[in-house]
Amino acid sequence: MFIHLQAAADLLNSNQVVAIPTETVYGLAAKATSNDAVAKIYALKNRPSFNPLIVHVHNLEAVDDFADFSQKAKACCAFFWDQQSPLTVVLPLKEGHLISPLVTAGLQTIAVRLPHHALCQDLLARTGPLAAPSANVSNTLSPSNAELVQQSFKEKCPPILNGGACTVGVESTILDLSTKTPQILRPGGVTKEMLDAYFKEDIPFIHTKNIKAPGQMKVHYSPGCPVFLNKVHCEQGEVLLAFGPNAPDDALNLSPTGDLVEAASNLFKYLAILAQQNPKAIAVMPIPLHGMGAAINDRLSRAAALTFF
Ligand code: TXA
Ligand code: MG
Repeated sequence: MFIHLQAAADLLNSNQVVAIPTETVYGLAAKATSNDAVAKIYALKNRPSFNPLIVHVHNLEAVDDFADFSQKAKACCAFFWDQQSPLTVVLPLKEGHLISPLVTAGLQTIAVRLPHHALCQDLLARTGPLAAPSANVSNTLSPSNAELVQQSFKEKCPPILNGGACTVGVESTILDLSTKTPQILRPGGVTKEMLDAYFKEDIPFIHTKNIKAPGQMKVHYSPGCPVFLNKVHCEQGEVLLAFGPNAPDDALNLSPTGDLVEAASNLFKYLAILAQQNPKAIAVMPIPLHGMGAAINDRLSRAAALTFF
């Protein structure tokens, strides 16, 4: 069911969950201060309770209410958020904060981001901070439009504030600023190149087996069939997810011109379209690793991990 802005705000303010648009992917939102509301997110998504959520804020000032926001971290957020870049930062939790402990899953840190989707901004102005993971059942594809939210939850689908297709199409970059030096926990809409340029140093990707950012868990983003990477053509029964100008004309192509930003915006939608054809497997053409290619390859390699289980 699609609902209007005020109805969405009213539901959220009475501790119900609503699927909301952001520029990256749709989120399954609940009031970040309400245990009851946040518990509904975990139940609906079937998400392990040790996997913490991102808090979405209306403006930079709101972060001070619940996180220790150093000058350095504040400057970094101001820089990227002012230019509407999808950056999530992990910060130390502030003493006396009112965020539900379910949001942080018991960690002493909190992940926060400022979404720029206009409808989402209007909503946050009416609700205050919202906890929101991606609006899909755990371990399945993230939804880059409202229809994909419906497809994921089926009859259990929460009310949706429909804000159209997400322009970025992959989740925010998660940057850990609670550690001595910044670390990228999840590649996303803000590239490593952008972060290196901002900090004037090499900002490493951290690949940890510990649950620091469980979006990093190996099996994630499963489209429901095997995925093979770096293929130039497919075997019988398989379907090809193409990229770039050297692809067969009849294949679904993430970006015929080889534009990685365009490819990211099409990624989850095209995986869902191909999965619906019930193929033996999805064969994906090689995609460069630089820029947005890091996030695309990260999501694809997690989708492919299913193949080895
Ligand atoms: O673009 C996005 O980030 C989307 C939209 C809806 O905002 N949200 C999203 O949420 O991708 P989710 O739950 O699918 O991914 C959140 C990631 C998880 O990998 C979680 O482990 C990590 O953020 N995370 C949350 N709090 C954390 C913390 N305190 N320290 C480290 N990682 C954290
Ligand atoms: Mg997710």
